[in-house]
Amino acid sequence: MKQFSFRENELYCEEVPVRELTEEFGTPLYVYSRTELLDNFRSLDSLLQGTDHVTCYALKANSNPALLKSLADDGAGADVVSAGELSLALQAGFSPDKIVFAGVGKREDEIEYALRERIHCLNAESVQELQLISLVALRLQTGAPVALRINPNIDADSHPYISTGLKQHKFGIDGEKALETFQFAASLPNLEVKGVHTHIGSQIRKSEPFLAAADFLADLVKRLRESGILITQLDIGGGFGVGYENALEHEGLPRNEQGDPNAPDAPEILRAMLPTLQQTGCSLWVEPGRSIVASAGILLTRVLYTKEQGPKKFVIVDAGMNDLLRPSLYNAYHQIVPARIETYEHEPVDIVGPVCETGDFFARDRLLSKVKQRDILAIMTAGAYGFVNVSNYNGRLHPAEVLVNGDRVRVVRQRQTLEELLK
Ligand code: LLP
Repeated sequence: MKQFSFRENELYCEEVPVRELTEEFGTPLYVYSRTELLDNFRSLDSLLQGTDHVTCYALKANSNPALLKSLADDGAGADVVSAGELSLALQAGFSPDKIVFAGVGKREDEIEYALRERIHCLNAESVQELQLISLVALRLQTGAPVALRINPNIDADSHPYISTGLKQHKFGIDGEKALETFQFAASLPNLEVKGVHTHIGSQIRKSEPFLAAADFLADLVKRLRESGILITQLDIGGGFGVGYENALEHEGLPRNEQGDPNAPDAPEILRAMLPTLQQTGCSLWVEPGRSIVASAGILLTRVLYTKEQGPKKFVIVDAGMNDLLRPSLYNAYHQIVPARIETYEHEPVDIVGPVCETGDFFARDRLLSKVKQRDILAIMTAGAYGFVNVSNYNGRLHPAEVLVNGDRVRVVRQRQTLEELLK
């Protein structure tokens, strides 16, 4: 999170003190750094220069139109999973020939939309889906470019809800049936079978599962070619993990000694996979979401009340699980810091939201700098899978989003209003 830092004791996003943003735009507030976003994209994409490739940003991580436009203008492709995301990607200016469409349950109208827009390809996940794509293409009298998502049966060693590459998961086509399914696909009218796709999970903090996936892909391409099926593209999906611990370091902040500070980042993992992938001679497609946008965003929230109850001290803030679901859903860790460090004293607290659920928490038994009513807290590394999961649960309004670029600030989504809630 290079673009978020303490100057003296005040938290800045690029050149802007974040507390000023809360005074102007209120809380809860998502704040993004444009520089961090583009740096993350470029550090991954530049590794692939010299190889025929497209880095397709996975919109599901964060589909704010302003962020999408920044990435599209910078030459990114897009990985979409619904008609909604496809429409957002086209609106943002992603070139259709750099868009791939994933998803285990595409509807017929979504397939038709994708074919009409002439996107680069659909990543198909079942025999029935292949048949439907072929039928729609026949009806539209067009070709349908497809890649087959193959489930390689590789353990991503991540949270069970976001691991996708094992046999028992719903995703992809069984690795053992890959050859026969490719042969079947090649026999269907109007399908143009271009490539192989895999995606083994998300927030993967090790290289090994990715290296195993690269070996699997290279071997499969070889076997397919031997059986007469010419594969020209490999899509390795996304899934590169990011470090959520100690996103910010300051002598006044407690350190989190958990997590692996040496875990490989996205460029490191990709670099290790490249030799195996390049030797296939295929074009390379990659679908990172989190590794591009997670560190580019934070969620700012205000302390409403503090109270002691039994053995606990609660810090009740004005953001809830409806604003950032990850802690409630995955018990995910996000570093939480005061936007201004007033004291170097810490105490263990539960940081909780206003929603009527015990599961509405951001941290439990967490060592936090001592805070008081009205202080602003920053929930770090919240750019990915944050705003995209907001809801109106408990009648709570969607938060606003702002984009910082140097010393410039732009509201890129207005806070929802009570009137909008009634629509
Ligand atoms: N490609 C496909 C086919 C995917 O399913 C995903 C993520 C990606 C690419 C991007 O993966 P990434 O690079 O962001 O790891 N809500 C969860 C994460 C769900 C990931 C779903 N698929 C979370 O908050 O951790």
